[in-house]
Amino acid sequence: MSTQRPPARAYVETYGCQMNISDGELMEGILERGGYTIVDSPDAADVVLVNTCAIREHAETRVLGRVSQLNGLKRDRPDMVIGVTGCMAQRMGETLLDQAPYVDLVMGPDGYRTLPDVLANLDDKRAGRTTTTIEDVVERPRKRGPQLAVLQLDVDENYQGLEQRRADGPSAWVPIQRGCNHRCTYCIVPYVRGPEKNRATDEIVAEVRGLAEQGVTEITLLGQTVNSWSYDDVTFPRLLQRVGRVDGIRRVRYTSPHPNDVTDELVEVMATEPTVCAHLHLPAQAGNNRTLKRMLRRYTVESLLEKIDLLRAAIPDIALSTDIIVAFPGETHEEFEDTLDLMRVARFHEAYTYKYSLRDGTPATRLPEEDFVDPDEAQARLEELIRVSRGIQAEINESEVGRVEDVLIEDEGRDPGQIRGRTERNKVVVFDGDPSRIGAYTRVRLERTTGSTFAGSEVGRPVTVSA
Ligand code: SAH
Ligand code: SF4
Ligand code: F3S
Repeated sequence: MSTQRPPARAYVETYGCQMNISDGELMEGILERGGYTIVDSPDAADVVLVNTCAIREHAETRVLGRVSQLNGLKRDRPDMVIGVTGCMAQRMGETLLDQAPYVDLVMGPDGYRTLPDVLANLDDKRAGRTTTTIEDVVERPRKRGPQLAVLQLDVDENYQGLEQRRADGPSAWVPIQRGCNHRCTYCIVPYVRGPEKNRATDEIVAEVRGLAEQGVTEITLLGQTVNSWSYDDVTFPRLLQRVGRVDGIRRVRYTSPHPNDVTDELVEVMATEPTVCAHLHLPAQAGNNRTLKRMLRRYTVESLLEKIDLLRAAIPDIALSTDIIVAFPGETHEEFEDTLDLMRVARFHEAYTYKYSLRDGTPATRLPEEDFVDPDEAQARLEELIRVSRGIQAEINESEVGRVEDVLIEDEGRDPGQIRGRTERNKVVVFDGDPSRIGAYTRVRLERTTGSTFAGSEVGRPVTVSA
């Protein structure tokens, strides 16, 4: 279909959750296999892909601004291709091509396998060369060459056999699930990513083995409701156990779990497998039963607290973090206060807090208009929630000063001569050290906290030093 073409450089810029970041790495892997050189700046790239998130309106407006800024680069290089991929591309589709007429390609999360072919096709069309038609590609005419849209969701696309291009380092994300079978009434994810698709057990384990052989020691398994993963007769806890027992793997995490799939079996594996970290991000979303019901979260405050008790009984030291949405349509002030009460009872080590954002096409948009919470009130609730959750986080972290923890050195610190690492319980700690030790594990005494992160100092010699 395509003729010989000069080597091209591609740049991928990703927004959104870890699954989307992992998709960015997947796209880089696919492009590299397709003959592209991956570059780390848009300035030198022939193809610029912005891999987007649609979870809240703010995420989308930010990206639209960024895409228009990137269009500035086309002044000097009119042949440059600008593509928008990911969840916002899927949500807006051809509307995005109308709103940003300089965008050459929109592609949703199930189209990445075809990326090199679609880009070659675009190139041929621009040059007026004969092209074959690629299935599922919609073409729109435009003065300066066509715009292409690839928006088909595909229940069979699991990207089997394709691997991410990962940055060197001790940690790797391994997607085990795509899409979501829930329909939380505020959430766009099921509409832009389709139903849940689970990867095969052996393929996941083989990928983890390969990563361990390359020197990766920390694995994070990814999925929208990652603990609902199952394949044939293998359940998520058994997968977690197998991954945790791969030679060379020292830390395993998983995100995001759905509270309903936190089972006795899962808690037992977490408590007994030494490599599974004593940390869990457990999204609660709200602390009031009427709100949870209208969000269609399928649990109650009581059953959520039972899960938390189960986790803490088996893993007393576990650090729990959460996601909370305030001002869901119809949430009264008393109901919001129930969420503050949940924070005080559950005492999460960290909370990611959001104001409800209306997403077209989701069930919550059909709630009566008068139910929508006044923006000033929503902002006030968010600020109050942040105040309460940061206060609890600071109390917990202050009580942990003096502890000695195993730390995986991940990066340089902000100040020269400092390095930054993470404890098993996902706490960030900065201490004096040389960046050549990134990838090593060491013991660090936590000496001070800002409330959210720690400063510490190394105790004794490092346990292992990376090559
Ligand atoms: N699959 C994960 C969450 C994915 S989205 C889960 O089920 O927990 C990440 C977070 O964004 C959610 O936990 C939720 O707190 C927030 N979020 C999702 N949709 C939102 C919306 N419409 N407005 C505000 N926050 C939202
Ligand atoms: Fe969205 Fe709910 Fe699925 Fe999470 S479980 S991705 S919040 S629909
Ligand atoms: Fe955003 Fe898509 Fe993730 S909407 S949160 S990038 S699944």
